[in-house]
Amino acid sequence: MNMHVIGLGYVGLPVAVAFSELGNVVVGIDKNKEKIDLLQKCESTIAEAKLKDLLIKNINTKRLSFSTSLESIGKADVVTIAVDTPTISGRGGSVDLSYINTVVHDIANYLDGYTVIVIKSTVLPGTCKKIENLIKQLNPKASFDLVSIPEFLREGMAIHDIFEPDRIIIGVESQRAKNVLEKLYSPFKDKTKIFFTSRASAEMIKYASNSFLAMKITFINEISNLCEKRGCNVYDVAYAMGLDTRIGEKFLNPGPGFGGNCLPKDILALANFGKSTGSRLRLVESTIVANESRKKELAAKILHLVEEYKNPKVAFLGLSFKAGVDDCRSSPSTDIITELLDKNIDVCVYDPMAIDNSKKIFKSRVTYAVDVYNAVKDADLIAFGTECEDFKFLDWAKIGTLVRNKIIFDLRNIINSQEAKKNGFVCHIIGNSNI
Ligand code: UDX
Repeated sequence: MNMHVIGLGYVGLPVAVAFSELGNVVVGIDKNKEKIDLLQKCESTIAEAKLKDLLIKNINTKRLSFSTSLESIGKADVVTIAVDTPTISGRGGSVDLSYINTVVHDIANYLDGYTVIVIKSTVLPGTCKKIENLIKQLNPKASFDLVSIPEFLREGMAIHDIFEPDRIIIGVESQRAKNVLEKLYSPFKDKTKIFFTSRASAEMIKYASNSFLAMKITFINEISNLCEKRGCNVYDVAYAMGLDTRIGEKFLNPGPGFGGNCLPKDILALANFGKSTGSRLRLVESTIVANESRKKELAAKILHLVEEYKNPKVAFLGLSFKAGVDDCRSSPSTDIITELLDKNIDVCVYDPMAIDNSKKIFKSRVTYAVDVYNAVKDADLIAFGTECEDFKFLDWAKIGTLVRNKIIFDLRNIINSQEAKKNGFVCHIIGNSNI
């Protein structure tokens, strides 16, 4: 099939690459010329496992190409729109549809012959219907169906998640479009559940799923606080809860709160949508409040742990919103560090992947280290903000010779605390007062 993917970010680029690997002829389109130039030279523009190899392979087989121009849209059987739908700042979580609207205005008159237009961007229930009406207005002669296929890709795992999905959700209301999509998704038909539903339901499934995940994380974070106060071990609690198949083991890892470009934005949008439709989602609203408080509470705990020292220095390790990515958008680590900086704490930071992105946030407000050992020099407290694998295997004897005071605050339960303790460190680990 001929597929065009518009918007080559964390969703669009992996989708374009993966569907070319599945045998389709794919054109990836983005208005950012710099990005297209890099992709045409086989350079990946995002840090995604396995992406680069597939990019090179499919460019070489000529199944995958990139362009800034929308002119070839007429040749496409399927046009996928995967541009951002950020939150409009100061509007309580309203979804900014301006990028989608611009794309729709730009493509409407290039449509030629029957086309299935897929909305992959995260949009609230009812949006597909509005976009469909807009295209009809802009080009009354266009022959198309507009469908919703939300994406559930995790950053850093996008290629894996496209090829091994838990489920594929297709919101489609025309048999003709359904036939096209059954063909496009035929490689998955024996592998996973392909669930056809209405467009509005598909749109809601995405928001409900992300909000539920955010609630699950927040729930275990609050249980974790209680565990610390009452001498329980939250990791045992989470493990045993997860053995109940009705609950499930995943997304019960306590930490500094959920972050990233999706969960915080989507849960805010859903809460706002609930309010504006007169069906408030109080659990969702409380989750937002609890997640925001968490970062402030953790920053306060760090301040408390170093309050007796003069000009305390904190080494903060792990800056991205989770391990294995370079993305600091809505990162709990960066929010906590900002709280510390506002209280005039001296902070030295390190991250194996996200230093460049963190520089855009902190500029000269922190010191940047090249590795863990460099970061901990003269520190009074070492905080671990992501579950980076490297943090499991640190040389605690060496670190002991570098720091000023031996205090650890592990926000992800990632370090070898036994080794740290052997070397004289006092370990504070989220949700576990028994260390
Ligand atoms: C998320 C959804 O998982 C994905 O389905 C959707 O398409 C995009 O949003 P992603 O943003 O990549 O994916 O991050 P995810 O792996 O879900 O983690 C989100 C945040 O929750 C991170 O800050 C992570 O550290 C945190 N988290 C996750 C926890 O604190 N505990 C957990 O048990 C799981």
